[in-house]
Amino acid sequence: MNILQNIPLKNYNTFGIDLSAKAFVEVFTEEDLNEVLSSTEGKNSKKLILGGGSNILLTKDFDGLAIKISIPGIKIIEEDNDFVLLKAGAGVNWNDLVNFCVGKNFGGVENLSLIPGTAGAAPIQNIGAYGQELKEVFYSLQGIFIENLEESIFNNGDCKFGYRDSIFKNELKGKFIITSIKLKLHKHPKINLTYDAVKNEIEKLKLGRVTIQDVSKIVCDIRMKKLPNPNEIGNAGSFFKNPEVNAKKFLELKKEFPDIIGHKIEEGKIKIAAGWLIENTSWKGKRFGNAGAHTNQSLVLVNYGNATGKEILELANEIENSVQNKFGITLHKEVNIY
Ligand code: EPU
Repeated sequence: MNILQNIPLKNYNTFGIDLSAKAFVEVFTEEDLNEVLSSTEGKNSKKLILGGGSNILLTKDFDGLAIKISIPGIKIIEEDNDFVLLKAGAGVNWNDLVNFCVGKNFGGVENLSLIPGTAGAAPIQNIGAYGQELKEVFYSLQGIFIENLEESIFNNGDCKFGYRDSIFKNELKGKFIITSIKLKLHKHPKINLTYDAVKNEIEKLKLGRVTIQDVSKIVCDIRMKKLPNPNEIGNAGSFFKNPEVNAKKFLELKKEFPDIIGHKIEEGKIKIAAGWLIENTSWKGKRFGNAGAHTNQSLVLVNYGNATGKEILELANEIENSVQNKFGITLHKEVNIY
């Protein structure tokens, strides 16, 4: 395997942070990955596993081996009249996988159109948007334990999926590398219009019958209007998770801030729109050096060009402090900081 030295990571993170890795290698097969991990450099170095780099913030040069997972391939494994089981290499671009499914009328990921990143990274934070979460169609994944190179399969129930969360962000953080995933998709798709913005746009079209192709198109339109394109302006999507509070706290907040946006997720638990909290601490659209909270969606922190990771992290910490001071709510970062 060709392990390269001192490689800039600017093109490997969607924030576009200009830092380097002491060593870098791109792997295209599981065998490549095995070889890298069993090499002297692979065994002795700290490792940074890169998918699409769309959920990381680099704050310093990486003093170890960055491994870019580029394992390709989308394959139908099994199908019957109702379902299809699909396998995707961890390096497959997530949106390419969505387009493959939407093109074949396999339902269950159309609301997740245009999410940046790779198939292999999708389960790590149980990607979700517009009323759908990966865990609803996720079947299993395969990967390798870094320490002993043991291969393992995780079924849906093993992944401990939560809101933007899984076992791979917790107990197995830095210990396991995903090489492929399997999804179980519907051949007679049910249209998911639980998210108001999608429902409203679909209603405007006055279609007789709504298809997953329509939903995918609407989701892409909404995202393109609202969210900055990482190819044009560096960002990693939502920087924070939407915080959860109990009903009592929500009522208190509602009294003081009648416009606050929250929705019930289960009895006594409310999820609050972090974007609203940030906007209402007046960070929306503000610049902090070369970093800022986006003008259309303040939950997305952006790199206006040449921002350092430290600058973005400082901005994030300032925002956390403002939200804590004004609302008594702790924001938690969704993005992984290195
Ligand atoms: N809002 C504001 N001000 C803002 C931003 C949002 O008041 O600056 C309000 C909106 O008006 C809306 C509410 O907050 O009433 C929710 O906003 P939005 O629909 O944009 O969704 P979100 O909760 O901010 C979440 C996900 C996104 C996902 C969208 C759509 C998280 C952390 N983020 O954002 O996911 O695309 O819902 O489902 O859950 C990501 O994870 O990177 C991501 C982009």
